[in-house]
Amino acid sequence: MTIVDLIRTFAEPLTMAVVMTDVDLERPGPTILYTNPAFARMSGYTAAQVLGASPRLLQGPGTAMQHTRLIARRLRAEGRFHGVLQNYRRSGEAYLCEIDVRPLLNGGGETLAFLAFEREVVRRRGRPSSNDPHGRYRPVVPELLDVGAMCAAPSLFG
Ligand SMILES: Cc1cc2nc3c(=O)[nH]c(=O)nc-3n(C[C@H](O)[C@H](O)[C@H](O)COP(=O)(O)O)c2cc1C
Repeated sequence: MTIVDLIRTFAEPLTMAVVMTDVDLERPGPTILYTNPAFARMSGYTAAQVLGASPRLLQGPGTAMQHTRLIARRLRAEGRFHGVLQNYRRSGEAYLCEIDVRPLLNGGGETLAFLAFEREVVRRRGRPSSNDPHGRYRPVVPELLDVGAMCAAPSLFG
C-alpha cells in the first residue's frame, strides 16, 4: 500500500477537504498527489482535474502575495502552515479557506509529503452576546482577516 492509498482510505469519507502534495516547494511545485471528494465539493475541481498541478491553481486576483510568501516561508522553516487564505473555485468565485498544512513524516523524521486540511470559512451560528451587536460569531469579511497576526497568535493557530 502506498502513502497515497493510505491517505485515500482515511480521507475519502471526510467532510473536511484534504489535499496531499509532494515535498518539492520550488516552483512549479508542490505537486498535488491526492484530493478527496470534499475538496471537489468545495473547490469545484475533481481530483482528475488537479492531480499533477500545484495548489497555486486555487489562487486568483485577490490572493495576497504577502500571504503566499508567508506560506512559502512557514513551509520551508517549519514544514507547516495554518491560516486563512482567499482561494478561488473553478467557477472563479472567491472563498475564504482555513488551511492547515502538515508534514507527513516517516520514522526518521523525513518529510514524505504535505497534507492540507482545508475548509471554507463561513459565518457560524451563535447566540448574540449582550456586548457585541454582531453576535458571538462576527461575520467574516476579508478586511478583518490578518493572516500574519493570526499565525502569530498561538492561542488561535498554534
Ligand atoms: C498541501 C498544500 C496545500 C496548499 N493549499 C493551498 C491553497 O489552498 N491555497 C493557496 O493559495 N496555497 C496553497 N498552498 C501553497 C502553495 O502551493 C504555495 O506553496 C504557495 O503559493 C507559496 O509558494 P510560492 O510563493 O512559490 O507561490 C498549499 C501548499 C501545500 C503544500
